[in-house]
Amino acid sequence: MLGDFAYSNPTRIHFGEHSMDSLRRELEGYGPNILLVYGGGSIKRNGIYEQVIAILKECGKKVTELSGVMPNPTVEKLYEGCKVARECQADLILTVGGGSCCDYSKAVSASAYCEEDPWDKYFLRMEDVSNKIIPVGCILTMAGTGSEMNGGSVITNHSSKLKLGHIFGDNVFPKFSILNPRFTMTVPFYQMVSGCFDIMSHILEQYFSGEDDSASDYIMEGMLRSLINSTRVAVEDPQNYEARSNIMWLATWALNTFVAKGKTTDWMVHMLGQAIGAHTDATHGMTLAAVSLPYYRLIMPYGLAKFKKYAISVWDVRPEGKSDAEIAEEGLKCMEAYMKEIGVVLDSRELGVNEDILEGLAESTVILKGGYKVLTHDDIIRVFRESMRS
Ligand code: NZQ
Ligand code: ZN
Repeated sequence: MLGDFAYSNPTRIHFGEHSMDSLRRELEGYGPNILLVYGGGSIKRNGIYEQVIAILKECGKKVTELSGVMPNPTVEKLYEGCKVARECQADLILTVGGGSCCDYSKAVSASAYCEEDPWDKYFLRMEDVSNKIIPVGCILTMAGTGSEMNGGSVITNHSSKLKLGHIFGDNVFPKFSILNPRFTMTVPFYQMVSGCFDIMSHILEQYFSGEDDSASDYIMEGMLRSLINSTRVAVEDPQNYEARSNIMWLATWALNTFVAKGKTTDWMVHMLGQAIGAHTDATHGMTLAAVSLPYYRLIMPYGLAKFKKYAISVWDVRPEGKSDAEIAEEGLKCMEAYMKEIGVVLDSRELGVNEDILEGLAESTVILKGGYKVLTHDDIIRVFRESMRS
């Protein structure tokens, strides 16, 4: 481990089949005005909405509903939410949904009383919150982003073709999150595997960075092995509670700041994927899947030792009689076969990428410096072009 750090996480997690029972106790801590945030209506079809409303009524809360949060929430929707949150004088934002609802609610939490344009302040200038924050509580219905236990919030601005994240501080993390793996059982197959790959990418983007002997890397190898195993089970049998509960818990720990402590991290796959999202509005995890292999093949020579370790420790590649580059490439081949097996998108054309938008994608890509190679403009174009041929 190289770096000094402080570690704490303010989000209280209630996990398991009976975790909704904890909502009553959590609600006691807040005033009467609840802003109930949800997405396009899946919670009405699977019965979660009714359960939440019954508990809110029982607790005597006054509920204002803010629905229609879309996957990849937009800046226009953020402005709408700020207005509604102020008008109802929300004491708590209770969000019921996947990462989009959770991210959105954190953005509203920090923006409702912000006197400037929150897009400029938080997403372009990356400033901290300096105004009143509305607490957020989360009932998670889809596993993937880790938004339930972190300060991340990703907002899409279609007019400027930017999809940008802001990492808010501890004061904006959800105060509590209710994680019932049963709630994830109705997630459509495409979204389920997209979420599983999102988790994998979160782990890999913290793993493929640094040269030191970091305990975090060994923890991540264990997490990857569990994730690969549980995803395979869930793909065969989506109703398998054990697999879905493992996936949900792994998603939370993959991005609740824990495995990033004491090490550098990369995050370029997310920057490339978010550029695709900004142009095509494609499903988040699938954008990551489409660019991952071209990106990793590009940076592999610069971080060969870690790619070799990945191949051996995660994919059980036998090293005998092989060069480091051969071992590393075999690891990526195993990953590729796995991605095909679970059915994630390997060709970005399926997401709407084409030759005409390559320059635009490159312009929308934020370049970070924590990985094994700082990408040039040509590198970025190459990754996007190769993502169309996978
Ligand atoms: O809108 P509803 O009707 O709820 O339907 C959603 C949506 O269509 C559906 N869904 C969710 N739970 C369901 C369900 N359908 C049936 N049954 C259920 N139980 O699934 C669709 C996708 O939901 P969404 O919330 O968009 O997915 P996800 O959790 O993948 O969130 C994606 C967003 O999170 C951001 C992404 O960029 C994207 O905007 N991220 C946030 C991060 C963070 N806060 O740290 C990190 C991630 O890397 C990611 O960038
Ligand atoms: Zn992600």
